[in-house]
Amino acid sequence: MFTKIFLCIILFGIMDAKDNRKDFKYTVNNVLQDPRFTESIILKIKPRRYLIDYMEEACRIAPTRFTNFTATYFPSVPGYLINAINGVAGNYNRDHSFWQILNKGVALVVGVSQYIPRPRDNIMFNLTDSATEHH
Ligand SMILES: *[C@@H]1O[C@H](CO)[C@@H](O)[C@H](O)[C@H]1NC(C)=O
Ligand SMILES: *[C@@H]1O[C@H](CO)[C@@H](O)[C@H](O)[C@H]1NC(C)=O
Repeated sequence: MFTKIFLCIILFGIMDAKDNRKDFKYTVNNVLQDPRFTESIILKIKPRRYLIDYMEEACRIAPTRFTNFTATYFPSVPGYLINAINGVAGNYNRDHSFWQILNKGVALVVGVSQYIPRPRDNIMFNLTDSATEHH
């Protein structure tokens, strides 16, 4: 009886691990200004979805932790740049702060409406004022 239960738990564990190959982690991190927050969520990869689609999904799934975000469309890019997450905006003119996008600690070279998240990505939006972060 107990062995069966344990086997089930182990099996589900293995299935979960397999499933993780189709997930990625989405984090929003603000250590710069109040209200500070760090929120993470594991999201399932769906075909042909851009990062901005997953940002919307996080707001739908966990609206208390991912309240909102705002973006500006630039035809010259073309694409969206993120202004604010959970009501907190970067201000480049004031202190060079902006919402930097990192994957596994490395800055993304494309934006939220170009990047297609892949399994096991570790995407972090970090409000940074670090002038050394040029990539
Ligand atoms: C966006 O989220 C922040 C943080 O939860 C909240 O204070 C603010 O009122 C929200 N803005 C809008 C327009 O809902
Ligand atoms: C996030 O930004 C803060 C402020 O610039 C910085 O201190 C911190 O190292 C950054 N975190 C990551 C993971 O880049």
